[in-house]
Amino acid sequence: MKSKEEAARRIQSLRREIHRHNRLYYIENQPEISDAEYDALMKKLIELEQAYPGLVTPDSPSQRVGGEPLEAFGTVEHAIPMLSLDNTYSKEEVLAFDARIKKALSVRPDIEYVAEPKIDGVAVSLRYEDNVFIQGSTRGNGLVGDDITANLKAIRTIPLRLEGDRIRLLEVRGEVYMPRQAFEKLNEEKEDAGEEPFANPRNAAAGSLKLLDPRISARRKLDIVVHSLGQMEGVSFETHYQFLNTARKLGFKVNEGFALFKGIEKTMEYCDEWEEKRDSLPYEIDGMVIKVNQLALREVLGTTSKSPRWAFAYKFKARQASTVLQDIQVQVGRTGVLTPVAILEPVRLAGTVISRATLHNADEVRRKDIRVGDTVLIEKGGDVIPKVVKVVTTKRTGKEKPFAMPDRCPVCSSKVIQVEGEVAIRCTNIACAAQLKNRLKHFGSRGAMDIEGLGEVLVSQLVDKGLIKDPADLYALDVETVANLERMGKKSAQNLIDAIEGSKKRDYSRVIFALGIPAVGTRAADLLAEYFPSVDEFARATAEELQSVPEVGPRTAEGIVRFFTEEANRNVIAKLKAAGVNMASSARPVSLDERFVGKTFVLTGVLSGMTRSDAEQKIKQRGGKTSGSVSRNSDYVIVGENPGSKYDKALQLGVRTLSEAEFVKMLQ
Ligand code: IVH
Repeated sequence: MKSKEEAARRIQSLRREIHRHNRLYYIENQPEISDAEYDALMKKLIELEQAYPGLVTPDSPSQRVGGEPLEAFGTVEHAIPMLSLDNTYSKEEVLAFDARIKKALSVRPDIEYVAEPKIDGVAVSLRYEDNVFIQGSTRGNGLVGDDITANLKAIRTIPLRLEGDRIRLLEVRGEVYMPRQAFEKLNEEKEDAGEEPFANPRNAAAGSLKLLDPRISARRKLDIVVHSLGQMEGVSFETHYQFLNTARKLGFKVNEGFALFKGIEKTMEYCDEWEEKRDSLPYEIDGMVIKVNQLALREVLGTTSKSPRWAFAYKFKARQASTVLQDIQVQVGRTGVLTPVAILEPVRLAGTVISRATLHNADEVRRKDIRVGDTVLIEKGGDVIPKVVKVVTTKRTGKEKPFAMPDRCPVCSSKVIQVEGEVAIRCTNIACAAQLKNRLKHFGSRGAMDIEGLGEVLVSQLVDKGLIKDPADLYALDVETVANLERMGKKSAQNLIDAIEGSKKRDYSRVIFALGIPAVGTRAADLLAEYFPSVDEFARATAEELQSVPEVGPRTAEGIVRFFTEEANRNVIAKLKAAGVNMASSARPVSLDERFVGKTFVLTGVLSGMTRSDAEQKIKQRGGKTSGSVSRNSDYVIVGENPGSKYDKALQLGVRTLSEAEFVKMLQ
């Protein structure tokens, strides 16, 4: 083994090397080595650091990902408030902004402005002391935000250490965003898992930064651009332009296309150029920001309580088009909500062809007086789904047909109702085929009961043939019945029945999620399972009790209470229980086991009899800990099929390995 000094030198040089490659890859887009070579450097560093834990520093590239989930975020006070920007869509107002500035400064000549894109993301503040990234926070209310350091560290374009000379204190502000492609991929994954997709990249970025588990947050492909200054000590700038150039040298990513101009006209021309490029960018921008360049002038101009007087957001107009609304269809969702959808004559907008738009609900259709046959103006903001802005009434011929929400469900013909205090209209029939199909798909989805093979086509057949009236009926299916369905053989029928059987052992929290209670997502389901360790306790909980669970607000609580008030839902629960589905948290009876207590387990490869999270839960219930990486401190490495490098590591360090069978035996 190397001497400690030698290891320290090697660690230093590895960090420098990794850092350089990070920069080449993430910021300059000019990688010099392959991913595999990069991974090898990283692996080497982690190994050395594990062998010498005393040499780990917070700015090591190994510290980007990981850390245990947090209970809640700490708070951070912003020494300099994080303001927002005054904004406009009109050229006249931008000119007026320029005039105001000249007046306040009593100057005639042209003002120097920097123009830069305004990415639609989440504002964050990054604090560096002696060049090391020590804290990152959200804007919050402008004065106090959340400490999201762990989640920010995972963003590769945030330097953990600033390059160059020592700077006592530097706080920079920037925008965290999710590039378009990453956003689309995340939404696909969400839909696969039966979860609600994000409406736009901004929500996706905000949602990802708010995750309490930094390991999950790290998997979301977030990026950042730095655009303004906070507190500073031991460094100063004369102009914003200088700041941006320096920021780049320090290792930050700044907006591409930031540019300096003399006079507002040229600045605005530049903004218009960017508006043209908008759809071809790999991220969503909603305008340009125009800022006074000289920091001394900013001082003179000052700020209002909400925004600086020296900066202005010049927003792009939403991209609009007009087309004919050919029909209004009514869709029935998983919770029975009827949603009117506009069927449009296809039209190109913001780079895609649009043929549908959401109309949200009947109130919206009424308010905008939208009729079938109308020419309508549609708009695409940052959201995935375009919306109908208004009717072009001058195009009316008199032949347009007003729309009324049906008073019967378009799928099952049951009566529909409007719940008091809600705009939504719902189908009252819990067994409605449309609802049932959507509920079943959700029930079997990956994030819920994870029943492989229960796809759209099969679900439709099962419901249409009357074989299934509620999700619990799945457990009464047999191979013969399933094998008789279209496009089903004996083999796939058997596989499906096995998958259904296997789902009985899913975590109780997943069962809660699978029930499809309105507004109860995976995160809420996890917490609810913790607070109410059995379904009986959960079903009995009052709205007040439910609200004591973090992340459960009054609306969700009432939705839960209403869910359990429905007799049909209670029947489903009883049937699930009778079928042997896991309806209680096994975490409760403290089955501490001395073979597990205080021991650290690492999982590698694929287990055949349980999911990874099930295995982790079983370990924790017995008093053990789990970790994502193997070190000398690991006690056991559980080795599934196709194990990864953790297995080699275990052998190398002499950590005890367990096969799945040995692990299962140990559990008994
Ligand atoms: S400068 C004092 N520059 O837009 C405020 N903001 O609507 C300084 N934003 O909260 C902000 N891109 O998070 C600035 N290039 C840019 C920006 C930008 C996006 C965000 C920022 C701010 C919000 C205001």
